[in-house]
Amino acid sequence: MAKKKLRIGLVGYGFMGRAHSNAFLQAPRYFDFDYEPELVAVCGRDKGNAEAHAARWGYSSVETDWQALIDRDDIDMIDIAAPNDMHKDIAIAAAEAGKMIMCEKPLGRNADESREMVAAVEKAGVPNMVWYNYRRIPAVTLAKQIIDEGKLGRIFHYRAKFLQDWTIAEDLPQGGAGLWRLDVGVAGSGVTGDLLAHCIDTAMWLNGPIENVSGLTETFIKERMHNLTGNVEKVGIDDASLFLARFQNGSLASFEATRYARGHKALYTLEINGEHASIMWDLHDLHRLDYFDHGDEGRVRGWRSIHVTDGDQPYMDKWWVPGLAIGYEHSFVHQFADFLTGLEANEPALPTFRDALATDIVTDAVLKSAETGQWEPATA
Ligand SMILES: NC(=O)c1ccc[n+]([C@@H]2O[C@H](COP(=O)([O-])OP(=O)(O)OC[C@H]3O[C@@H](n4cnc5c(N)ncnc54)[C@H](O)[C@@H]3O)[C@@H](O)[C@H]2O)c1
Repeated sequence: MAKKKLRIGLVGYGFMGRAHSNAFLQAPRYFDFDYEPELVAVCGRDKGNAEAHAARWGYSSVETDWQALIDRDDIDMIDIAAPNDMHKDIAIAAAEAGKMIMCEKPLGRNADESREMVAAVEKAGVPNMVWYNYRRIPAVTLAKQIIDEGKLGRIFHYRAKFLQDWTIAEDLPQGGAGLWRLDVGVAGSGVTGDLLAHCIDTAMWLNGPIENVSGLTETFIKERMHNLTGNVEKVGIDDASLFLARFQNGSLASFEATRYARGHKALYTLEINGEHASIMWDLHDLHRLDYFDHGDEGRVRGWRSIHVTDGDQPYMDKWWVPGLAIGYEHSFVHQFADFLTGLEANEPALPTFRDALATDIVTDAVLKSAETGQWEPATA
């Protein structure tokens, strides 16, 4: 039977533009679908760079205006891999044009933007998904299976951190290509929306909704030269963000993210402690899941380091022989594979825009709490 085409238009050819393009090419080589992805067009403001991306990854055309991309009738799905300030307008226009949408995280720069985006995709009835890719690292997916099977029992604690160190230099400018994350107008917030959003998405997926939060943020470098204006301007982002939280299931949590933890490049770790068992995971060793089961016989009880590479572990039957690890880029391959599987089953692949809105509601509450000094509700 001839496969159905999924004709893709990508916006943004940077870090995520590459990760997504790789996923579009790799997923059908390792997974079986009724759909066949077709890389129709890549959009970026610089035509030469867009053409270079198209040539490298196999897109058959380029656009320099995202609205022109959306206006094309030979595209079924718009993939948004542009900075955060672009997400809302592109997603709403794509939904109104009846396109499916995959959007990078955070969904909006704040929950109000995300609410508009959710309304647009739900009104249009178009399939939609947000690239919270850490859910698709096999060890993290295995953690979800173990928790859903009830092996941990009652949950007491959740703990997550995401540490980097790339903005410590005082003379690092803000704004423009590569540095838009330091420009609050473009990014929406600092590490809260950039790094903690990942931690919150995984946390709520594993442990359910967060009820309320108490946050603390700091901007260590108050002024930086802005690359687009040439002026020294106030820095509006949070450089570090910590918060305490209470989940609806009664468990307590602590979260921390910073770009000022010298020596750490992308240290995302999570831990969950239950009545019967605990789980730990570390992005620097992403194919391992540490698991402690109090039910083990006492003399041999201890933390197990599970090497998540066997065929009965999530996604791993699609790759190599048992024992051989996969990496960061595969989380995007898995996410796109799940999107296609969802299309075939006519079931939304998660997280949808609505799920990602829940994360933005929490990040807004963290930022608000840091301002008010009060606990803030983190539910819609
Ligand atoms: N899921 C993840 O783990 C993850 C990791 C990194 C980034 N992200 C998210 O992905 C998005 C992109 O981040 P990135 O690191 O790839 O950024 P990047 O700076 O590497 O790339 C951004 C791209 O968007 C393009 N762009 C900017 N304005 C545009 C416009 N008006 N029209 C068309 N293209 C435009 C830029 O030219 C560039 O190609 C952000 O929302 C970010 O938060 C997610």
